Amino acid sequence: MTKGASDRTFPELTTAVIEAMAAATDPRLREIMTVLVRNLHAVVRETRLTEQEWSAAIEFLTATGQICTRTRQEFILLSDTLGVSMLVDAINHEDGDAVTPSTVFGPFYAGVQRELAAGASILLRPEQGASTLVSGKIVDETGDAIEGALIEVWQTAPCGLYDVQDADQPEGHLRASFRSAPDGSYSFKTVLPVSYPIPDDGPVGRMLAALGRHPNRPAHIHFMISAPGYRRLVTHIFVAGDDYLQSDAVFGVKPDLVVHPQPDGDGLAIHYDFHLARA
Ligand code: BEZ
Ligand code: FE
Repeated sequence: MTKGASDRTFPELTTAVIEAMAAATDPRLREIMTVLVRNLHAVVRETRLTEQEWSAAIEFLTATGQICTRTRQEFILLSDTLGVSMLVDAINHEDGDAVTPSTVFGPFYAGVQRELAAGASILLRPEQGASTLVSGKIVDETGDAIEGALIEVWQTAPCGLYDVQDADQPEGHLRASFRSAPDGSYSFKTVLPVSYPIPDDGPVGRMLAALGRHPNRPAHIHFMISAPGYRRLVTHIFVAGDDYLQSDAVFGVKPDLVVHPQPDGDGLAIHYDFHLARA
């Protein structure tokens, strides 16, 4: 049982599976599947996988599919918690320092929401929590204003759940769209976000527990910003001081996305400018 990485068991099988795909008409599909098969076989060889372990893996993937519904996407949770989402993000967003970093999309976007006027509140009911004014500008890589950008925001309520996870919240609570003004500015009122656990009552939660990992994400507000001629930016702002900034369950924190809320009247203010890359 100790052959590990040196295992050469049945090498012609890997070759046969790869050769069986030679007639694939899509060369990119063939490339991806070839690398996938090679690496999957390497995992089986290196770990000397037992039949019981392979059955457990199949049961895990089956349960991951079976728990999925319109509002519960367990495969996104799996991708996120294994770091795959952030790796795909990194490979596709090597935009440089002049552009705001992107991060995970997550499974809780609920489509384009009602468009509100600058300065409006995204709450549909009162909430406990520090009232917070979020404002800043949408600008390009050189700092020039981008007018008319669509700014979509979403966050959890202070109970740690999104409206789509919680029948007690009005639909559309704590999510909305805004347009940037001619000077690029945007602003809205909300409550300070809280840290919360990703859904952990399914196979991914059981996987995290078995691996000694917690399911928590540090407090954040999601942003998706689109403007003609620019690359769409999917990102969050994270609140400084959060207990989970160093151990986000989905590895989504980037230092440039961490903000420091400042006292502002009875509440708090967060200022953040988003820099978009040209398309
Ligand atoms: C979120 O921040 O909404 C999220 C991201 C990844 C997995 C689960 C939730
Ligand atoms: Fe979130």
